[in-house]
Amino acid sequence: MNEKFLIEGGKKLKGEISVKGSKNTALKVLSACLLTDEPWTVSNVPQIEDIFRTIELLEKLGVKITKHESGIYELQAKNIKSNQIDFQIGQRLKSSILMAGPLLARKGVAEFPHPGGCVIGQRPRDLFLDGFKAFGAEIKIKKQGWKITAKKIKACKFIFPLVSVTATEAMILTAVLARGKTILKNAACEPEIVALINFLNFCGAKIVGAGSPTIEIEGVKYLKKGKCQIIPDRIEAGSFVILGLAAKSPIKIINLNPEHLEVLLLLLEKAGADLKIGKDHVLINSIQPLKAVDIRTHEYPGFPTDLQAPFTVLMTQAKGLSLIHETIFEGRLFYTDFLNQLGAKTIMADPHRVIVQGPTKLCGRRMISPDIRAGIALLIAALAAKGQSIIENVYQIDRGYENIEERLQGIGANIRRIKE
Ligand code: EPZ
Repeated sequence: MNEKFLIEGGKKLKGEISVKGSKNTALKVLSACLLTDEPWTVSNVPQIEDIFRTIELLEKLGVKITKHESGIYELQAKNIKSNQIDFQIGQRLKSSILMAGPLLARKGVAEFPHPGGCVIGQRPRDLFLDGFKAFGAEIKIKKQGWKITAKKIKACKFIFPLVSVTATEAMILTAVLARGKTILKNAACEPEIVALINFLNFCGAKIVGAGSPTIEIEGVKYLKKGKCQIIPDRIEAGSFVILGLAAKSPIKIINLNPEHLEVLLLLLEKAGADLKIGKDHVLINSIQPLKAVDIRTHEYPGFPTDLQAPFTVLMTQAKGLSLIHETIFEGRLFYTDFLNQLGAKTIMADPHRVIVQGPTKLCGRRMISPDIRAGIALLIAALAAKGQSIIENVYQIDRGYENIEERLQGIGANIRRIKE
């Protein structure tokens, strides 16, 4: 079904909005259930399309899944009946590749598609393949993906030539049941990885170094049952803070961890935002004129690439010139064409850099959501703009944000979903 959002922008927002569980933690924790035949209970799972696809993939592999009340899943991978990750669904999700390591550990073989995900750049797979090889797996190229085989997974020392979130997670999940001690160097430090490691350790894994570039994993024979509460989604939290500022509305964003957003909050304050930062909330205290600041995306704890597009929208409302430097993905700035059509003044210097001149008045229009994060950025722009906007391809927003229109209506936004 082709669904759209119809937005009447320019309204002041008010009240509180609560942050849901982290998409990029939940996807990994759910995939990791393949490591054990014991039951796991995972709560605070956001009800979003990428989670539904992950559940479908796990069920196809034979995982028994019971969904209790909203956001609580019980999973048990006792009878894995297939070692092939469904190609049709798997290629729509980057995180599907995380099921390969656990399948290799449990079944000695895994077949997986070229994992797709957002179209934000080339998104190569070399690190995964080199990593699986380092663990002793044999790799065969198939028509649509790969088949990896290993009688025994041998612990290894693996140095990532560059920092990659999913590749770090994939190697952790491959090492948990390997024989011996694996050392990962130049690993990613994102809070989602720390949360995954903490839960695996709770279930009996032996992993040290979470949140640092060197992670050591002493292989164990099995993982036991466990309960995991998914941490708040820092990207959703940051997007809502930006929304409040862009819509010049003093809203309060609750159920978040400000420690996961330190660079964003620092730069917002540098831009002149008046924020009250609590233990688990951020309040936009008063609306002040903003001045332009530059950003340069970086691996955690740097400025997250997933907040680059919302921040760019905000800079259209700030006085002066901002340089937005997207260092991680080369296809993540094309949404700025839509911003210009709304009335923004942005110039793309090259595929990695955009200059924004603000402030500019934005006026609503028709747009198409290109990916999850640019999608929410266009939604923020539409809410900040005067007049009516239509955003098409909202599947790309539903992939990452639970019931977004109802939650935005809760703070006074005029947004409706149209089903055609
Ligand atoms: C994860 O993607 C997230 N996805 C992305 O969020 C996020 O934007 C990204 O990390 C960066 O923070 C999930 O967690 C599911 P990378 P990932 O591997 O792991 C290069 C969202 O909207 N690279 O850390 O795919 C790559 O091209 C999504 O929630 C290789 O060269 O990103 C990039 O330049 C979008 N070879 C850099 O590494 C490889 O084999 C970092 O990407 C793998 C990656």
